[in-house]
Amino acid sequence: MLEIVNEVQLTISKDNDNPFLRGPFQSNAREYTADTDSLKVIGEIPRDLEGMFVRNHHNQIHEPLGNYHPFDGDGMLHAMRFEDGRAEYRNRFVRTTGFYAEQGAGRSLWPGLLSPDLAERRGWGAMGAMKDNAGTDVKCHAGKLIASMSQGSEPWRLDPFTLETLGVEKNWARKVPEGVASHYKVDPFTGEMMFFNYPENPPYMNYGVVDKNNQLVHYEPIELPGSRWPHDLGITQNYTVLHDLPLYFDPVLLRQGQHKLVFNRDQPARFGVLPRRGSNAQVRWFEAAPCYVLHITNCFEDGDEVVMDGCIMPDYKTVPVNASTNLYGRIRANLDKHNNPTLMHRWRFNLRTGQTTEQRIDDEITEFPVCSNDYVGRPYRYSYNVLYKKGDWLFSGLKRYDMKTGKTARYEYGEGRYGSEPQVARALGAKAEDDGYVISMVADMNTDSSEIMVLRADDIQAGPVARILLPERMGIGTHACWVESDRLQGENRQTELN
Ligand SMILES: [Fe+2]
Repeated sequence: MLEIVNEVQLTISKDNDNPFLRGPFQSNAREYTADTDSLKVIGEIPRDLEGMFVRNHHNQIHEPLGNYHPFDGDGMLHAMRFEDGRAEYRNRFVRTTGFYAEQGAGRSLWPGLLSPDLAERRGWGAMGAMKDNAGTDVKCHAGKLIASMSQGSEPWRLDPFTLETLGVEKNWARKVPEGVASHYKVDPFTGEMMFFNYPENPPYMNYGVVDKNNQLVHYEPIELPGSRWPHDLGITQNYTVLHDLPLYFDPVLLRQGQHKLVFNRDQPARFGVLPRRGSNAQVRWFEAAPCYVLHITNCFEDGDEVVMDGCIMPDYKTVPVNASTNLYGRIRANLDKHNNPTLMHRWRFNLRTGQTTEQRIDDEITEFPVCSNDYVGRPYRYSYNVLYKKGDWLFSGLKRYDMKTGKTARYEYGEGRYGSEPQVARALGAKAEDDGYVISMVADMNTDSSEIMVLRADDIQAGPVARILLPERMGIGTHACWVESDRLQGENRQTELN
C-alpha cells in the first residue's frame, strides 16, 4: 500500500529563480510510506540484501531569508528497508526545533549559510546563525539513527524503523553545547561513535566519544590556532585523526562579524592523530602539503603508520577563475568540483618519525568516497566514489577503486540522471569485502522520477541488478548510511574481515 502520511505547505515563491530550489533540487512536500507491493521494481531485489539504506537531503520548505544555499534546507530522510527480496520505502522530515518553529510561523525564521547577518534569533552551526536543519549527515549508532548539520547542530535521534524523530539525543546532547558536526564515525567492532564540532571561539574544536551504550565517555577541547572550517574526521582501531586545514574565515573580517572563506595556500595542512580517548596534549600534529579535504574514505593502522585515504583539494579556489558574476552561478561554480578538483589521495602519518608521506591515487575528479561499514577504521580494499557532472553540483556516476591493485571500475547513470553518496551493503554471510551491493538514490530528470539503485559491489560496471522506483521524484541529496539488520537493534556485529 502507498500511503501519504503528511504533506507540508511549500511557500517558496514561484518567482524565486534560485536554481538550487528548482529542477533536480526542487523541494518535496509529501511524506510517504510505501510497501513492496506498491513499489515498481525493475530487475530483482537480492534475497541476501538485508538492512536499511538511508539518505539525507536538504529540502527547503519556505521562501528563504536571504540567499539560499543548497545546504540550508530542512533535513529529509529517505529510507529503503530490504528483507528477503522485498523493500519498503519511507521519507520523513527530521522534525527539529527549527522545523516546528517554521511550521508554526508558516515562514522562514533563520537565514542560511550565505546570510548569517540576517539572523534574528539564536541559531546553530559554527556561525551560530543557522536553523538546526539536520539535513547533512545520518548514521546509525546505539540502535538509533542520528542526523546532524554540517556546521554542527543538535544531535537528532530518529527511530530507524519508522523514521519518527525522537528528539534531541537525551543522554548527552546537553553535555555537548557546541553541537555535533557532520561525519561522526562508528567503530563496527566496539560500537563507539567518535564526533567533533568546530565553534568560532576557542578552543575552536571539541572531540567526543559516545560508547555503544550511548553514554558520552569522552569530551575534550582541541586547541586550534584559530577558527577553522573542517569537515571530516577519521578513526582507526586505536586513534582518531582530526583536520586543521588552511581553509577558514579571514580572521580579521571574522572579528568584524563577516564570514569570508580564504584558502591560505602557503600554510601546511595539519592532521592531528590522538588516541581514541586521548587529550588535547596527546594530539600529534602531522604537517602535509596545503590542501582542503571534504571527505575521507577511511583510516587504518599499518605498522608505525596511520593511513588516511580521501579526496584532496590541492588548490582550493574560493572564487573560481571562471565563476559567473551571478550569485547562483558563483555558488554552482564553487560547488563544481571540476573547478576545484578533488582527487583520491593517500596520506601516511608515521608515529615513530613524525613524518608525513603522500601519494596521489587518481587524476580523475571524484568525491564522497565510502567503504563498507565493516571496515571502518581497519585495513580495507575498496573505495566507492561519486563522479561529477562538469559545471554542476550533480553526481553523474560511481567509480570503484581497488586500493590493493589500483584497478578501477565505473558506472555512469546516463544523461539527466543524478545520484547521491553510495553505500556498501555486504550480502548476508559475505566473506569477501565486496561480496554484496552498492546502493545509491538516483533522480531521473528525463522521466521525472527517482529510484533506489542496487548494483553488485564487485561488478558495478554491469549496472543495477535492481531499481526500485519511488512514489515521486525526490530532491538531490548527498550523505547516506547503510544499517545492517542486526545493527538496527544496537547490536555489535560479529564482523569477519577478509
Ligand atoms: Fe559531508
